[in-house]
Amino acid sequence: MHNVTLNNGVEMPILGFGVFQIPDEETQAAVEAALAAGYRHLDTAASYGNEAAVGAAIKASGIPRGELFVTTKLWIQHAPTGNVQEDTRRAFDNSLHRLGMDYLDLYLIHQPLGDYYSEWRAMQEINKEGRARAIGVSNFHPDRLVDLIDHNEIVPAVNQIETHPFHQRASDQNLMMERGVQIESWGPFAEGRNNLFTDPVLSAIAEEHGKSVAQVVLRWLIQRDVVVIPKSVRPERMAQNLDVFDFTLTEEQMGLIAALDTGASLFFDHRDPAMVSWLGGRRYS
Ligand SMILES: NC(=O)c1ccc[n+]([C@@H]2O[C@H](COP(=O)([O-])OP(=O)(O)OC[C@H]3O[C@@H](n4cnc5c(N)ncnc54)[C@H](OP(=O)(O)O)[C@@H]3O)[C@@H](O)[C@H]2O)c1
Repeated sequence: MHNVTLNNGVEMPILGFGVFQIPDEETQAAVEAALAAGYRHLDTAASYGNEAAVGAAIKASGIPRGELFVTTKLWIQHAPTGNVQEDTRRAFDNSLHRLGMDYLDLYLIHQPLGDYYSEWRAMQEINKEGRARAIGVSNFHPDRLVDLIDHNEIVPAVNQIETHPFHQRASDQNLMMERGVQIESWGPFAEGRNNLFTDPVLSAIAEEHGKSVAQVVLRWLIQRDVVVIPKSVRPERMAQNLDVFDFTLTEEQMGLIAALDTGASLFFDHRDPAMVSWLGGRRYS
């Protein structure tokens, strides 16, 4: 597996396995299958409701903890104690407990909403205590990211953002590279929206390499140094999505894919007031 080196020296596998929208009761089997296929990097979140199942799969696999890279995410804290820093520490402990672990490889602020400056201060402490080897953020637009960096001690190691052929984030990635923040794609296949899996440009490139559209998309992201965490519940697709290190897209093919960018989200905009309010109203511990 190829790694990227984060801004604090921690090595992160460039390809992992995401578990968003896998129902809790199916997650243990899916993660066990992913680990058997060879994945060693897992991405979950408190809000996915399946951290315990991820932890159970890891335990059942017998794979030593040190061989795995595990990420989970902090949901927006609502200060039930009146102190978001304390709530963040409690939420972190809850996630670790559900995962059955004593440290995380990467802990992310899930949304750029609420009092995320207090959340970040708690995460800096957790990082210094060695309980999260790296800390980062998700869904941060460049302005929010720069503001967080400029007013805090630790620069986020990662920003996990929607990134796929129809929303490529090249300028966001440039800014992150300047600031030492690793880009990580969520929704590498746009969850199949915009007919991604039958897109004619991607299909033609896939045919030229004897690969699938999914493999071309993952390869394209990896060649751009973007960390990817595709999700699948099907073992044959899990294996296919890992098998992307034996071919290289040409500059011309990279250019053809670059032309598919629409510059807009296929999901939701974190600057849309209705979406901000909807996300902010959700509660997960
Ligand atoms: N930070 C955030 O706010 C955020 C938001 C969304 C997602 N994420 C993370 O990013 C991960 C990936 O994103 P995602 O799950 O939203 O979507 P995705 O990985 O873009 O797409 C998953 C979809 O693609 C299908 N699929 C997977 N491999 C395939 C293949 N080789 N051929 C054809 N279809 C294939 C899956 O179906 P089957 O399962 O039936 O194979 C599923 O319907 C998540 O699991 C989560 O860890 C983070």
